[in-house]
Amino acid sequence: MAIRQIRMRDDEVLRKRCKEVTKFDDKLAVLLDDMYETMMKADGVGLAAPQVGILKRVVVIDVGTGRIELVNPEIIETEGEQDGPEGCLSFPGLFGKVKRPNKVKVKAQDRNGRPFMAEGEELLARAFCHECDHLDGHVFTELVTEYVK
Ligand code: NI
Repeated sequence: MAIRQIRMRDDEVLRKRCKEVTKFDDKLAVLLDDMYETMMKADGVGLAAPQVGILKRVVVIDVGTGRIELVNPEIIETEGEQDGPEGCLSFPGLFGKVKRPNKVKVKAQDRNGRPFMAEGEELLARAFCHECDHLDGHVFTELVTEYVK
C-alpha cells in the first residue's frame, strides 16, 4: 500500500465527472487500498478517487465503524434532513454548514464487482452524499450556507 497525494481546492481534477469502473482487477484493489491508507493517514472519514487524481467512480469511507468501499455508487433513497458542519480532505481547515438527508441508501459494487446495498444515518449518510458528489465533480463548498470555525 502507498500514500497518494491528495489534490487540493482549485485542482481541476476535482471538478470533473468520473467514469464508471468496468474492470475489477488488481489495479482497482491497489487503488482502494491506497485510498484507504491515504484517508486514514490524513485523519479523514471519506475519500473519493478524484481526490487522488483518478477519475473513476471509487469511494472509501470509514466513520469509525469500519471500512466501506463503494465502486460505482448510486444514491437510491434518501429520508429526512440534517444540517451541520462538513469538511473535506481537499479543503484542509475549512468547515461549513451543509444540509444533507439524514438517511441515505446506496447501491454499489464491491472490489470484485458484486452488487450490494448500504444504508447510513447521520455522519455516514453525510459521507455517502459528500463522496458521491465528488464523483460528479462537485465539492461541498458549493453547498455551504455558512462557514464555521
Ligand atoms: Ni471531500
